[in-house]
Amino acid sequence: MVIISPSIISSNLTQLGEQVKLSEAAHADMFHLDVMDGHFVPNLTMGPDLVKAIRSVATVPLEVHLMVEKPDKYWRKFSEAGADIFLIHYESLCNIHETFREIKNSGKKYGIVINPDTPFSKVEQYLDGAYIVLIMSVYPGFSGQSFIEMSLDNVKKVREFINKNDLETMIEIDGGINEITGKKALDAGADILVSASYIYGGNISERIGKLKSL
Ligand code: DX5
Ligand code: ZN
Repeated sequence: MVIISPSIISSNLTQLGEQVKLSEAAHADMFHLDVMDGHFVPNLTMGPDLVKAIRSVATVPLEVHLMVEKPDKYWRKFSEAGADIFLIHYESLCNIHETFREIKNSGKKYGIVINPDTPFSKVEQYLDGAYIVLIMSVYPGFSGQSFIEMSLDNVKKVREFINKNDLETMIEIDGGINEITGKKALDAGADILVSASYIYGGNISERIGKLKSL
């Protein structure tokens, strides 16, 4: 069954707690927290205090998508705030193997992320032991962008690799996901759909329900 991870940053932030509860009532499986530092991407979003506030109302796992230059410097702060899964970009400036080792030793989970123009072959080496491989279907930085169809090729390649090597890593896709692009991503082999503007731009429970039934 498809796993839905709403990106809460596009919700009505004046009612964040309520939006979290509404999303969980609609059977959101986890929350996707987009952390941007104004350097790795041109936008700025949330820090650990907001994650802590979300943790105090959410009961499902929290995954932190670290769109920051140096994720190795920050993941612990988000971990202390209550996040469960750390998604690290291949394109960031850190020693990825070392950072994954530290996250694993702390008892938490990690995933590797690739931008739409990064070939999957670059991250094959990180898959064994990764909880998630996140394929970006937009260039990171903003919600509300259009789905890049080409990213489906990356999803298919990753699915083949995971099946061939008998790995348990789940495939997640992020960017421009709605009921049409979500279906294409699932057909290509994705397990987890992230969605921000589609879910929070309409009736939350209806839209999460539609994605869950794809
Ligand atoms: C993009 C973020 C996405 C974004 C998704 O930089 O990583 O998670 O919030 O937004 P939508 O679903 O609107 O494309
Ligand atoms: Zn994201």
